[in-house]
Amino acid sequence: MLRYKYYIVTKNTRKMQIIPGSQGKRLANQISDINGYQLLNTKIEHFSDGELNIKILDQVTAKEILIVQSTSMPTNDNFMELLLLSDAALRAGAQNITAIVPYLCYSRQDNIRSEKDQQGDAHSYEPLSANLVARMIESSGISKLITIDLHSDKAQEYFNIPVINLTPCIIFQDIINNYIQKKDLVIISPDSGGIKRAKDFSLKHNIDFVYMEKYRDDDNQCVISDIIGPSVNGKDCILIDDIVDTGGTIIKAAQILSKHGAKSIIACTTHPVLSGDATRRLQDSLIEKFYVSDSITHQRPLPDKFHIVPICQSVASVFA
Ligand code: R5P
Repeated sequence: MLRYKYYIVTKNTRKMQIIPGSQGKRLANQISDINGYQLLNTKIEHFSDGELNIKILDQVTAKEILIVQSTSMPTNDNFMELLLLSDAALRAGAQNITAIVPYLCYSRQDNIRSEKDQQGDAHSYEPLSANLVARMIESSGISKLITIDLHSDKAQEYFNIPVINLTPCIIFQDIINNYIQKKDLVIISPDSGGIKRAKDFSLKHNIDFVYMEKYRDDDNQCVISDIIGPSVNGKDCILIDDIVDTGGTIIKAAQILSKHGAKSIIACTTHPVLSGDATRRLQDSLIEKFYVSDSITHQRPLPDKFHIVPICQSVASVFA
């Protein structure tokens, strides 16, 4: 049963066709099953130099096209695939292209940063990746974006097309409701960037929240310097974050919570990027259970500490 409905994306939903990207096949199938849209076949290969070679193999007859693609590893290929699929659909006659991108890459670099030398002059510059990615998506002809738990409001503001950013509160609501029955809970954001997310969970479930001060040291290692908010001593802690990549943030946060007397620690993280040996390190960490959505799918099954929460009903409800 769907408990939440979002506004209707299009009035022509019956006529939609779905194009799955390599990282969107499962979700595309699920949406097709739920909503009855036709799935189109594609052929996605590489030329010998590594460039992508993409073909849509069925006729594009609908004016409204859905492309489903998560832009996780291999990130650059999957992102480029999204753009090329959109271009191909447009050239095949599609009039409106909605991209369902459960995990949107490059959204973390959403601020202009530069490093200064001792004289105060900037000596290294970084791109505004989240902004560039938004412009590339728009240029490819995508006219609407449906995504989940974007890294920040800023990453969303860079778009000039409508963006539906599904909240993680809905994805993880049943998990938190189950814990509320039996535990003395507190919601934790492992950094100040996640305060809004943690606050949303806290308000929805009427649970206290605290946040941590995090920074990266010279070796890009995450350091947590402070916990701000009510005491976590004797509490059952739920860490909330958008992305788990190397696992450094969540693992460090759990260590600090434990030092401050936390009784138990679980984590709900929307996007399991899980690069390097993150999976093993998280499995060996102080976290008892690790809930992640299937915004990113992994070839190999995740170890027993991980519990996968499906996003398909929330995404399909956008078209209800
Ligand atoms: C950072 O601002 C994000 O919200 C996540 O906390 C971060 O991307 C997690 O990365 P990692 O798992 O590598 O620490």
